Amino acid sequence: KRKVTTHRLKEMKSRGEKISMLTAYDYSMASIIDQAGMDAILVGDSASNVMAGNVTTLPMTLDQMIYHGSSVVKAVKRALVVVDMPFGTCSGNPELSLQAAIRIMKETGADTLKIEGGEEIIEDIRKIVDAGIPVMGHLGLMPQSINKYGTYTVRAKEKAEAEKLINDALLLEKAGCYAVTLEKIPAKLAAEITDKLSIPTIGIGAGAFTDGQVLVMHDMLGINKDFSPKFLRRYSDLHATITNAVQNYIEDVKSQDFPNENESY
Ligand code: KIV
Ligand code: NA
Repeated sequence: KRKVTTHRLKEMKSRGEKISMLTAYDYSMASIIDQAGMDAILVGDSASNVMAGNVTTLPMTLDQMIYHGSSVVKAVKRALVVVDMPFGTCSGNPELSLQAAIRIMKETGADTLKIEGGEEIIEDIRKIVDAGIPVMGHLGLMPQSINKYGTYTVRAKEKAEAEKLINDALLLEKAGCYAVTLEKIPAKLAAEITDKLSIPTIGIGAGAFTDGQVLVMHDMLGINKDFSPKFLRRYSDLHATITNAVQNYIEDVKSQDFPNENESY
């Protein structure tokens, strides 16, 4: 199958075909997700939470994102691979931001980057796009700004924040972003932004009217049990499946059922 491009995502929007996106952080899972037919795979800095065990995404380093990104890229044949720029690598110094962006692109082989923020970092984004690097914006709840918000609650319920969000989305489109992620905002606002933009919107906790949806792999597969926001739909209970398999293995080792003669040399 043909490799998915940023251009193809725009075509999908104009056709009204929804875009599927899911996170992955390693070779094996990325391979399964790609072969299942996912349109885009996000190497999210949510790796900080689900892979590294941190409470926030802030500790993620450029080198760590490059490690995850290059692992995923090696597995993917069809999906568009998007790598998050981690906290502090794109924050108002366009020259430094471009250097970080170039490192990710060169050292992972990813197709595109995703960057949290609007007007405050619009010059950084313009510089990166002008260097030939496709950028997906990320607005609404921006987990790298959790210390500013102080809460992971729904964003842009108030008029001022909603208006800024719409303005930021238009600025991102104008700066050359090929798509924008909208996280945890009212469905009605996400619908309005999706309508206003010619580039695709990809929602997480942003309702049914965005051009696509994204979820964190560990959440939708039911690997973590302790994260269950309203927007999350669980498609599997891998926590139970894995626990069961691991316990069967322990039991077989203890009872000396494993290994048997056929499993021995
Ligand atoms: O890091 C991540 O997984 C993300 C998605 C939640 C959009 O940015
Ligand atoms: Na992220």
